Amino acid sequence: ATVTAQPEQTKAISDLLMGIFFEDINYAADGGLYAELIQNRGFEYVPSDRGGDQNWNSTHSWALKGEHAAFTIDTVAPIHPNNPHYAVLKVDQPGAVLTNAGFDGIALKAGEKYDFSLFARVRDGKAQKVRVRLVAADGTVQGETTLTVSSRSWKTYRSVLTAKTSADAHLELQMQNVGELNLDMISLFPQQTFKGRINGLRPDLAQTLADMHPRFIRFPGGCVAHGDGLENIYRWKNTIGPLETRKPARNLWGYHQSMGLGYLEYFQFCEDVDAEPLPVLAAGVPCQNSGHNGHELRGGQQGGIPMCEMDAYVQDILDLIEWANGDAKKTKWGKIRAESGHPKPFNLKYIGIGNEDLITDVFEERFTMIFQAIKEKHPEITVIGTVGPFFEGTDYEEGWKLADKLGVPMVDEHYYLSPGWFLHNQDFYDKYDRKKAKVYLGEYASHIPGRKVNLETALSEAIYLTSLERNGDIVHMTSYAPLLAKEKHTQWNPDLIYFNNREVKPTTGYYVQQLYGEHAGDRYIPSQIKLDNQDERVKLRVASSIVRDTKTGDLIVKLVNLLPVSVDTDIQLPAIGSIQTAASRTLLTGTPESTPVPVTDTIEVGEAFKQELPAYSFTVIRIKTK
Ligand code: AHR
Repeated sequence: ATVTAQPEQTKAISDLLMGIFFEDINYAADGGLYAELIQNRGFEYVPSDRGGDQNWNSTHSWALKGEHAAFTIDTVAPIHPNNPHYAVLKVDQPGAVLTNAGFDGIALKAGEKYDFSLFARVRDGKAQKVRVRLVAADGTVQGETTLTVSSRSWKTYRSVLTAKTSADAHLELQMQNVGELNLDMISLFPQQTFKGRINGLRPDLAQTLADMHPRFIRFPGGCVAHGDGLENIYRWKNTIGPLETRKPARNLWGYHQSMGLGYLEYFQFCEDVDAEPLPVLAAGVPCQNSGHNGHELRGGQQGGIPMCEMDAYVQDILDLIEWANGDAKKTKWGKIRAESGHPKPFNLKYIGIGNEDLITDVFEERFTMIFQAIKEKHPEITVIGTVGPFFEGTDYEEGWKLADKLGVPMVDEHYYLSPGWFLHNQDFYDKYDRKKAKVYLGEYASHIPGRKVNLETALSEAIYLTSLERNGDIVHMTSYAPLLAKEKHTQWNPDLIYFNNREVKPTTGYYVQQLYGEHAGDRYIPSQIKLDNQDERVKLRVASSIVRDTKTGDLIVKLVNLLPVSVDTDIQLPAIGSIQTAASRTLLTGTPESTPVPVTDTIEVGEAFKQELPAYSFTVIRIKTK
């Protein structure tokens, strides 16, 4: 094959093309990215989180071991109405322990320090000593501390434990005196969080995301953003402020959201990895409006937020913009942000309204209200609308009609389709009208239900990504979905990164995303690819893309070969400027079913050079200019 660059036809492309989509699905947040180690710390699990499962209640993950003691749940005079349940521990004779199992255990790291805290009050006025232990399965104590609770009203008590070994442990609390204690918000946090943030993120998982060089982060969903009922619409205001005042919610993926990972933490994470924040909010309609994805309709609810409540809902969205960007002294919500420890505005530029909703009158009425209000009050914010769900055999017609009518500047498209679809639709955006809205490809994956990510699916995405770079003048942002999945707690397959309490297991698809993120450009240099074999099926399986990163001046050549044979390629870079002869080459290759990791070496390049593309491979060559 010959790949010939045509530098005379370069065009500007989006420098935000590669981002990430974070949704709390597959235990991505609690028990995942959010570093809290105690499960159900606020005693707020309720059966309705999990389809009425009666074992999923305030005592879930907690147990009393021993005699002459009682563990019950109460709601009288809680710390905060948003956090109504707390534990009551009564001891007639010291000895029994209250245990917490963590999220599949508590994976300690030898020598690491852990911040322990709880809210407590004594009921009988007598001070209580509480021994706190981290105990391994073999009964060995891995860390220990003692607190003295003396307050009659709710008060926080804190201490630090150091892990002796890297054991899998559970937590034990033991009252040392006879009496009664009320306990809530029992928390254990590793001191080592990503960038050392208080209430922060698991460092290995967060670093794996940071390594993708995401230029934006979309959160909190997905379906989680619009919920599966009016009561389940994600409300950002419930997720900020002191942890004990945040309002937990049912996660429509069948578990619980503590909201410990809330809007402040999402925005901070964006800041920490230099990514644009992209919050997505419901367009005043929950998932029932579309009833797609096989979600069960709850209670037959249809439609959206009643129109008489829509002004307040729109105001909530305007308040979010003020919270993110408002002056810390002069605005109400800017002040609230400052009080939570972030006086500097977050410089929010994009906001998503709606998620894959069916475009009905109910949707249109509410979306229009929100869109017009943001446009009027905050013309500086780019609203990203949604054009609905897309499956083979459907299209986005209704969504685009509405976007055209309102002049929405950008729309969110989603598709989970087969590798074959991605190969056969490389011209999908070539055909898009450049005068219309830009596209955020917010969710996509080369998806074979029940099958794992392998090199074949990853290469079909790599090929499609060459077409997304080519269309980077209209496709402004893209994000693979879903991002994270905890082993044994996965509701959706495939995902980009699997993990358990100790390991992070990026898929081969992750490396494709990572390489595109690390080697993104902002100028597209068209290239012609000529294959000796002109069979259409062959042509679909070999693709190239050349971009320039104007910040560094580097040229980046991406080459994908999804054929079962290697392809000898002549790469021609005429009139491209002076280039350095030593270039870095990263290669991802294997058999179609394999899950390889990339390998980087140095090669010699020039204005013309040869490159063999192994069978089933993705090659990225980064060339420095002089
Ligand atoms: O990514 C998983 C789900 O797929 C998202 O929650 C939803 O938006 C889409 O249907």
